[in-house]
Amino acid sequence: MTKRVAVLLSGRGSNFQSLLTASLEGSLGGEISLVVSNRPGAGGLTIAQHAGIETALIDHQRYTTREAFDQDLGGVVDSAQPDLIVLAGFMRILTPKFVARFAGRLMNIHPSLLPLYPGLHTHQRALDNGDSHAGATVHYVTGELDGGPPVLQARVPVNSGDNADTLAGRVLEIEHRIYPVAVNWHLTDRLTWQDGNLLKDGLPVPPSGELWEDAS
Ligand code: GRF
Repeated sequence: MTKRVAVLLSGRGSNFQSLLTASLEGSLGGEISLVVSNRPGAGGLTIAQHAGIETALIDHQRYTTREAFDQDLGGVVDSAQPDLIVLAGFMRILTPKFVARFAGRLMNIHPSLLPLYPGLHTHQRALDNGDSHAGATVHYVTGELDGGPPVLQARVPVNSGDNADTLAGRVLEIEHRIYPVAVNWHLTDRLTWQDGNLLKDGLPVPPSGELWEDAS
């Protein structure tokens, strides 16, 4: 049976677009069956609508508690029966209850070389520290912010003269390359996450994820 992916996003949706392209090309290992946004104007919603994908808007501003928001979000996500829930620029912190409900089926991409720089302003922090490299990490989601086990990580150089925007652009390009690969690994059952250990094809994944190498 075709594997199903639900995407949660809050903004422009360029990572969602890269996943959609991969699914249309047949390299994702499944199809995107639902896109949910917490923001009415999210560009990702428009992309999904043009592609004929079911969308849902759950506006967090209409909720007084995170728990009530997550309860409704979880209900909508569950109704799509996804094999994987992909966070693609979803700018809400999920409650432990939500994370537990979908444990092992939640993936995120973070624009840093985790465990460096969880949270916001990753590119500026890399620049401020004089790092020679930046990058992006796909990881499973746990209750710890950007703290779940890394699956796949890619590095890009920091160039002299970079500012946070130029660096973000270079990292975003690599995000678009690696997210579909990590999602494919999950959907084709190549990843096992048990008792705190993440395996790929039965072998331990390094603590900062498999290092992505450009095969093209
Ligand atoms: C990306 O940089 C991603 O790493 C972060 O949020 C941003 C989303 O961008 N989690 P987009 O909406 O996919 O273009």
